Amino acid sequence: MRILILGHGVRGRTYEQYARAHPGEYEIAAIADPVSPSATVRDWTDALETPADAAIIALPDRLHCAAAKAALAKGLHILLEKPIGCSWAECEEIRAAQAAARRLVLTGYVLRFAAYYRRLTEVLRSGVIGELTSIHHLSAISYGKAAHAFCRGNWAREADGTSTLVQKCTHDFDLIAWWARGKACTRMASFGSLMHWRPQNAPAGAAARCTDCPAAVRAACPFDAHRLYCERTDLRYHFPDESDAAMEKVVAESPYGRCVYACGNDAVDHQTVLMEFDGGLTVTLEMESFSARRGRTTHFYGTRGEIAADGETIEIRPFLGAPQTIVPAQRGNHGGGDREIMSAFARLAAASPARYAGILEASLVSHRLAFRAEALRRDV
Ligand SMILES: NC(=O)c1ccc[n+]([C@@H]2O[C@H](COP(=O)([O-])OP(=O)(O)OC[C@H]3O[C@@H](n4cnc5c(N)ncnc54)[C@H](O)[C@@H]3O)[C@@H](O)[C@H]2O)c1
Repeated sequence: MRILILGHGVRGRTYEQYARAHPGEYEIAAIADPVSPSATVRDWTDALETPADAAIIALPDRLHCAAAKAALAKGLHILLEKPIGCSWAECEEIRAAQAAARRLVLTGYVLRFAAYYRRLTEVLRSGVIGELTSIHHLSAISYGKAAHAFCRGNWAREADGTSTLVQKCTHDFDLIAWWARGKACTRMASFGSLMHWRPQNAPAGAAARCTDCPAAVRAACPFDAHRLYCERTDLRYHFPDESDAAMEKVVAESPYGRCVYACGNDAVDHQTVLMEFDGGLTVTLEMESFSARRGRTTHFYGTRGEIAADGETIEIRPFLGAPQTIVPAQRGNHGGGDREIMSAFARLAAASPARYAGILEASLVSHRLAFRAEALRRDV
């Protein structure tokens, strides 16, 4: 497939790497980005002038809807990063555009393609823990990643895109919908807020930028930008140049060097959603910024046993018989999901167009749940 890569940030670069490593599957016709030196054009609208079969939409959330509709109108298949749209109305616009164009819209739900989650879902479906009664799912962002994305970064202000829950947890709602096997969510409640990264919580003497902050205040601050970007390396993948010198510059000059208490952010930092599904299955989803560890942890309770899944191991504890631990092999980003989704994209595009609408519909279930939960949080 000849592809256009719209947005050459973290996600766009990931998909580009796959495409370059698999010339038998993909040929890159254009890359659009206003700042990336590897881009061939500056704006996504210009890239759509290049003949192609498909577009990968890895743009900021607020551009997803316009770009998806324009790409579909050009007759392109799309791999659309999540969230599909920033509101349910935008999701519906994309659904209408897909129906008119009859092209594939594959959402960037990489976890569905990851070996770990495939194996976990297989185990659940095997019936080894009987009928599922409840799921407790924690999506732990971690304080460093959350400070990067939802306080200092791209997703700090809801008006620039969408809520933290929609942005971060559409993945989690998608997993939950997968595990609930098409059952309808009959009741829901949701609570959450921005508790901590507010000006009134700034330590006495804190400056607007970490580099200007008194040493004693910085030393006591877990969110000090120098510590997060220069002393650690795990957040550097967000930047095209990961060198020490580039990171010093990020901290000194970019928005990522601002004090976390002075970022004008309004994205919530923690949220809980309670759900009841048809037949009685209950689910709690917790999104948490203030965790030491980043990742997803899920406990499944069933009428014949329990499963504890921590993102690496799957511990099956049946009430009868021996417990078992499975450690699925995970190679690459998102447990291999980034690679697998790219291999699936070309395959699914070549499948019968009759399947396309169902593929988008399955991804919209998670968005419907996320927007509903967000509306309930605001109502309370
Ligand atoms: N599936 C996943 O697990 C996953 C993970 C992270 C991010 N995402 C999603 O992927 C998308 C991109 O996220 P990211 O982390 O790569 O962000 P990013 O900021 O690193 O990349 C976005 C890129 O789009 C470019 N851009 C902005 N305006 C543009 C325009 N008009 N034309 C062309 N390019 C433009 C920016 O310069 C930037 O390089 C987001 O929607 C995000 O929600 C998905």
